[in-house]
Amino acid sequence: IENIAVLTSGGDAPGMNAAIRAVVRACSFYQLKCTGIYRGYQGLIEADFEDLDARSVRNIINKGGTFLKSTRSMEFKTKEGRKKAYDNLVKEGVDAMVVIGGDGTFTGAEYFSQEFNFPIVGIPATIDNDINGTDYTLGYDTALNTVVEAIDKIRDTASSHNRLFLVEVMGRDAGDIALNSGIGAGAEEILIPEEETGVERMIESLRRSKKAGKTSSIIVVAEGEKSGKNIFELARFIEENLDEYEIRVSVLGHIQRGGSPSCFDRVLASKLGVGAVEALMEGKTEVMIGIHHQKVVHVNLQTAIKGDAKIDKELRRVADITSV
Ligand code: F6P
Repeated sequence: IENIAVLTSGGDAPGMNAAIRAVVRACSFYQLKCTGIYRGYQGLIEADFEDLDARSVRNIINKGGTFLKSTRSMEFKTKEGRKKAYDNLVKEGVDAMVVIGGDGTFTGAEYFSQEFNFPIVGIPATIDNDINGTDYTLGYDTALNTVVEAIDKIRDTASSHNRLFLVEVMGRDAGDIALNSGIGAGAEEILIPEEETGVERMIESLRRSKKAGKTSSIIVVAEGEKSGKNIFELARFIEENLDEYEIRVSVLGHIQRGGSPSCFDRVLASKLGVGAVEALMEGKTEVMIGIHHQKVVHVNLQTAIKGDAKIDKELRRVADITSV
């Protein structure tokens, strides 16, 4: 292998820049060429390339977002789009690729790699932490810290006014952000996509906690939670069934995807970036470079994208006990 391309795709995540930097620096260390692809798979189809060397990635380890930009490309989902992408790579002399992203990115990589027998490895990057076979995805730790900081601030005003706050956090299919930030920020209730706990049960529990002397409350709601109500409908439902509190809603939104990556995410990005280049040099393909028990591991892309929507039951138990 002589020329490795790198791209970021799908929803961005803090730590993507640090991962690009690690890939570029590892290429430089091993004297390989590195080609940056702008705008993910769409940029690949449009040959939006730039040669990257060790100095091209200076001063970016601490930056949120991705300097290579990101897209969710519809054209790459078509055979014609992927053919254009392949032709561009051949023309550019690229012989392997590192893709940084989540399950959509890996699904595209899997198709492409099989269709053209092209070596690809993936680096898991999404704030949702919803990739199999890795203990952490890039950006998750930073997002958790952002959410906890935001909820701490909401708690100040909630407690001044004796209010109940519903705080919506990201996670269409995964409750990791909600569950962990909920425990970390001391939320009274946590609603996640993986389980239907029932809104009636929630009303009962809020009533109990009011009786137990709580004056304000915070409910963390993952955007994909299962009650079938959006957060404003949930707020109305609580208002109609519980007189005890005045209610406010706060949707944290995309602030969760931005910001300077935590040290944890920077170190993780560095390990995964180096691991990705080394895996390609060892002739690996269609694998994700993940982390398990602090060690870099190789996981089949197919296994990585198989969402199994499991939650950590122990975390749920701890959340229930500590919110009495
Ligand atoms: O997958 C990451 C994620 O941030 C989800 O948690 C969220 O549902 C989605 O992306 C939002 O996507 P977009 O930025 O395209 O609105």
